[in-house]
Amino acid sequence: MLVLGIESSCDETAAAIVTEDRRILSNVIYSQTTEHEAFSGVVPEVAARAHLEKIDFVTEKAVANAGISLADLNAVAATCGPGLIGGVIVGATFAKAMALSLTKPFLAINHIEAHALCARLTENVNFPYLLLLASGGHCQICLVFAIDDFEVIGKTLDDSVGESFDKVAKMMLLGYPGGPIVEKMSQNGDPTTFNFPRPLCKKNSMDFSFSGLKTAVRIALEKLEYIDDARKADVCASFQRAVEDILSYKMEAALCLCKSKNISPDAVVISGGVAANKAIRDKIQRICHKYGMKFSAPPIHLCTDNAAMIAWNGVEKLLMQRRDSLNFRPRPQWALGEKF
Ligand code: KG4
Ligand code: ZN
Repeated sequence: MLVLGIESSCDETAAAIVTEDRRILSNVIYSQTTEHEAFSGVVPEVAARAHLEKIDFVTEKAVANAGISLADLNAVAATCGPGLIGGVIVGATFAKAMALSLTKPFLAINHIEAHALCARLTENVNFPYLLLLASGGHCQICLVFAIDDFEVIGKTLDDSVGESFDKVAKMMLLGYPGGPIVEKMSQNGDPTTFNFPRPLCKKNSMDFSFSGLKTAVRIALEKLEYIDDARKADVCASFQRAVEDILSYKMEAALCLCKSKNISPDAVVISGGVAANKAIRDKIQRICHKYGMKFSAPPIHLCTDNAAMIAWNGVEKLLMQRRDSLNFRPRPQWALGEKF
C-alpha cells in the first residue's frame, strides 16, 4: 500500500509517500522560513500564496524521489485542519483533485492526530499510550486508545508551549522559529540565573499555563541594565529549564493518574515541534526510566511539520477501511478525535 500525504497547515509545504510497512519512500519539505522571517512569525496570507506556488513542485518531487508513478498510489491524504485556513484549503483542494483524477480514495487528516500517531510510524508503539503533544499550536496530554480515540487529560489554558518559545525568542530579536534558536542559545547559558515560575505545578492538575512564564521573561528582560549575547543565553537557559520542569512534572502527574485508574500505557510518547528539543526529550525519558515505562518520540526531523506523518495517518485510516468525501470541508479548528 502506497499513500501520498500532503501538508500545508502552517509554514511548511510538504509531500511524502509512505507504505503500510512503515517505509518512508520520500519526504519533501519546503519550509517558508525566509518568507516569514522579517515578520518574526507566520503571516497567513503570505503562507497561503507560498503553498499555492510550491505545492505541485513539492508533490512532483515526492513522487519522483519515491521512484513510483502516480498510478501506483492507493490513496491521497491531506491535512484538512486545524490550521491556517488559506493554506489548508490549498493542500486539501490539491489532494482532492489528485484523488478525483486518479480515482483513488481521499483521506482528510487532522494535523494534530497525525502528530499524535507519528511515533507509530517509526517505532513499535501500541494502543493505549500516554501522549504529550507539544507544538506551535497545541499543548496537551492525552491517552491514545485508537487512531481516532483520544482522551485529553490536560491542556493549556492559554498559550501553547511552542508559541511561548517563539515569543521569548521574539522578545530578544533572536529570529523565527524561536524553539530551535532558544534551545541552541541555552547551551551557552546558566539555567539558574533567573528563577522563572513553573505555573500550575503545585496543583495535582495536568493543565498547563505558559502566559505567566512568558510575562516573567518579559519583566526580567525589562529589568536588565544591558543585554548582550551572554545575558540572552542565560535568559534562554533559564526559560528552557522552566519548560523542561513543567513538562516533566505534568507527565509524572499523568503517569500517576494512569496508575490510579489502572490504565497501563504501552509507552510514553512525545510529539509535535517542541518534541524536537533534546533537553525536553531527555528529561521526559528520565521520568519514564524512573517509572519503568517505554519512552518514544519521532526522530527530530519528524517532530516538526512534515507530510510523512500525514501519509502515515492516511495508511492507518485506509487499513481501517476509512474514506472521506471529496465534499469534506477544511476546518480551521478541529480537536483531537472530534467527529463531525
Ligand atoms: O509541530 P510544529 O512544527 O507546528 C505546529 O503544528 O504547530 O511546531 C512548531 C513549533 C514552533 O513553535 C517551534 O518554535 C517549536 O515547535 N520548535 C521547538 C523546537 N523545534 C521547533 N521548540 C523547542 N525546541 C525545539 N528544538
Ligand atoms: Zn504541526
